Amino acid sequence: MSEREHLPALLEETLSYLDIQRAGTYIDGTLGMAGHASEILKRNPKARLIGFDLDENSLLKAREYLRPYADRVELFHADFKYLPDLDIDLSTVRGILLDLGMSSYQLETQDRGFSHALEGPLDMRMDFRNKLTAAKILDKYSEPKLARVFRTYGELKQANQLARRIATLRRTQKIESTTQLRMIVEEVCHWIPQKGKIHPASKVFQALRIEVNQELEGLSEFLERTIRLILPKTRIAVISFHSLEDRIVKHTLARLAHPENGPGLIDILTKKPVTPGEDEISRTSRARSAKLRAAEKKPYGTQKTQ
Ligand SMILES: C[S@@+](CC[C@H](N)C(=O)[O-])C[C@H]1O[C@@H](n2cnc3c(N)ncnc32)[C@H](O)[C@@H]1O
Repeated sequence: MSEREHLPALLEETLSYLDIQRAGTYIDGTLGMAGHASEILKRNPKARLIGFDLDENSLLKAREYLRPYADRVELFHADFKYLPDLDIDLSTVRGILLDLGMSSYQLETQDRGFSHALEGPLDMRMDFRNKLTAAKILDKYSEPKLARVFRTYGELKQANQLARRIATLRRTQKIESTTQLRMIVEEVCHWIPQKGKIHPASKVFQALRIEVNQELEGLSEFLERTIRLILPKTRIAVISFHSLEDRIVKHTLARLAHPENGPGLIDILTKKPVTPGEDEISRTSRARSAKLRAAEKKPYGTQKTQ
C-alpha cells in the first residue's frame, strides 16, 4: 500500500469538528502526507492552508500532493510549537489541526528506524536537523535515565531490567539496529507471541521516539498560548495516539475551559474523546488508538483577562 493510500485518521469527524465550510485559513500543524489538509482544500475552495512538518521528506511529498491547490497553500519545515512565535496573521484562522505522532509513511520507511518489525538503523528522528538519535540515547544515557524513558514514555513494566541489560551490553557492543534492540527487548521481557498482546518492543520504540523528538515537551504550553491568541469561534482539533499525549490534551483543554478563577476561554466540543469505528479500524489497524478532542474559542467578553 502506498503512503497515500492510508486513510487519514478520523477524517470525517475531524473535518466536521473543524467546521471546514467556513472561508478562511486552516492550520495543519502535522501535515504528514497531507491527507486531512488536501480534503480541507478540496472540499472548501475558499479555504487557505498553512502546514507544518518537522520531516523534510514528508513535506516534499505533501507539497506534491497539494500541488492542485498550490496557490492557497503555505508550508513550513518547522515544529508547530513555533506557531505563536511566527509572523502569521491569526485573525483569518478558522481552525487548527494537530494529528500527533508519526505517519504511516515514516513508520514504514525502513531506514528511519521507527518500526521494530523492519530492519534499520536506530534513528527515529522526525527532523534530521536534530542531533539526537535513538542509538545515541541507548549509548549515552545513564542507566537510571534510560529506565525513566522506558517507564515514563513506554509504560514498560521491565524498564529497570531493560536499562540494566542495555548498560551491560553496550560495554562490549554498539546497539545500532532495530532488530538488535527488538531481540534484547524480547529476551529481557521473556516475550512469547500471543494473540492480542502488544509486543513489548512497541512500547520501547514508542518511548525512544518520544524522547528523540521531545514529542510531549511544550505541547500543553503550545495549546494554551495558541488558544489565547486565536479569535473567537476558531476551532482546534487534536488527534493523539497514546494515553500520555491524550492526557496532556485533555487536561489542558479542561483547564482552559474551566479555569480556577474567572470564565473559560474555550468550549469543549467533545465531552468524551472521539474514537474510530470498527470500519476504520479494520482498514487501518493503527487507527485503533486514535482519540480526537476538539474545542472552540469563546466569544470576546467571556475570556479571562491576564
Ligand atoms: C500522524 S502524521 C499526520 C498525518 C496527516 N494528518 C495526514 O493525513 O497525512 C504526523 C506528522 O506530523 C509530523 N510532526 C510530528 N510532530 C511534529 C511537530 N512538533 N511539528 C511539526 N510536525 C510534526 C510528523 O513528522 C508526521 O509527518
